[in-house]
Amino acid sequence: MARILTGIQTSGRQHLGNVLGAIKPAIDLANKKDNDAFLFIADLHSLTTVKEKEMRKENLTVTAAAWIACGLDPNEVVFYAQSDLPQCAELTWYLNCFTPFPMLANAHSFKDKSDRLSDINAGLFDYPVLMASDILLYQAHKVPVGKDQRQHLEMTRDIAKAFNHHVKEDVFVIPESIIDEAVMTIPGTDGQKMSKSYGNVIDIFLPEKQLKKQVMSIITDSLSIEEEKDPNSCNVMNIYRLIASNDSIKEMENNYRSGGYGYGHAKIALYELLLEKFSEERRRFDALMKNRNEIKDALRLGASKARLIADETLRKVKSSLGYV
Ligand code: ADP
Ligand code: TRP
Repeated sequence: MARILTGIQTSGRQHLGNVLGAIKPAIDLANKKDNDAFLFIADLHSLTTVKEKEMRKENLTVTAAAWIACGLDPNEVVFYAQSDLPQCAELTWYLNCFTPFPMLANAHSFKDKSDRLSDINAGLFDYPVLMASDILLYQAHKVPVGKDQRQHLEMTRDIAKAFNHHVKEDVFVIPESIIDEAVMTIPGTDGQKMSKSYGNVIDIFLPEKQLKKQVMSIITDSLSIEEEKDPNSCNVMNIYRLIASNDSIKEMENNYRSGGYGYGHAKIALYELLLEKFSEERRRFDALMKNRNEIKDALRLGASKARLIADETLRKVKSSLGYV
């Protein structure tokens, strides 16, 4: 049985791009019978950029609610908040002492963040070592991540090998990344990649009225209702295609080509399909947000399962370094 592990960013409310591009594929992978899955919310990593207490708490809650609402079963998957396991921070220190400084200084993500952000703190610099610690602490075999995380996984492998080599013991499993090159990019309301930072999201967990407003804001050209339209270059159609059945897609394409069908009609069809398609997820999300203790209980259960492995790994690490 392979242990798969991945970290979830707590960047706030989860949009359609996050749901289709990250949450659903990770849950499908986690639910495969021969996988033992660890999914955790990387709320220590998020402190590098989000410092405000209430926002941090809210981000954790809405992120966990979205994952559970999308089908993550906390009884099957080990689902926890990174900060509930201080073993991870302790291991980060040990790993720091086996991580060459130039390796971190040359990391793409650090260079990129230090060009963009005004707060260039040491946490940003050490981000890859905390990530290595997340993975090595739980002895993960496989780590599904996006392309942008490739270098972080290489660093994790290098750090694990350097440590094992130094202590002359296989203390850590050397993990492999799973990078799905074909992962689709979900377009936003303006046709660019959907992203919180571009303000172009469709948030499927919003109340109906607000969700409708987002869908109605999708940018189209200004052809009149009567005119024929091109289904291949339209933002509404491009989002509709991702969730509709083949028959419904064909029907909408025909409507576009035959004229007498306006973008307003297409947007309403998309809105109604979103409500139908994600009705269960929306219902669960609302129920969880009304009963936040259920989210806390789920994370507590995950932490208690994760702790068994974390303690065992840390014991081996400390023993190999002469601390116990
Ligand atoms: P955002 O760009 O909104 O800040 P994040 O960077 O927090 O999103 O991404 C969280 C996860 O969701 C990542 O795994 C990322 O690859 C995935 N994701 C984000 N936006 C999209 C998108 N438009 N299409 C597909 N996947 C996406
Ligand atoms: N850095 C990852 C990202 O930005 C999130 C993450 C933190 C992670 N720790 C991890 C992913 C461990 C995989 C394994 O997406």
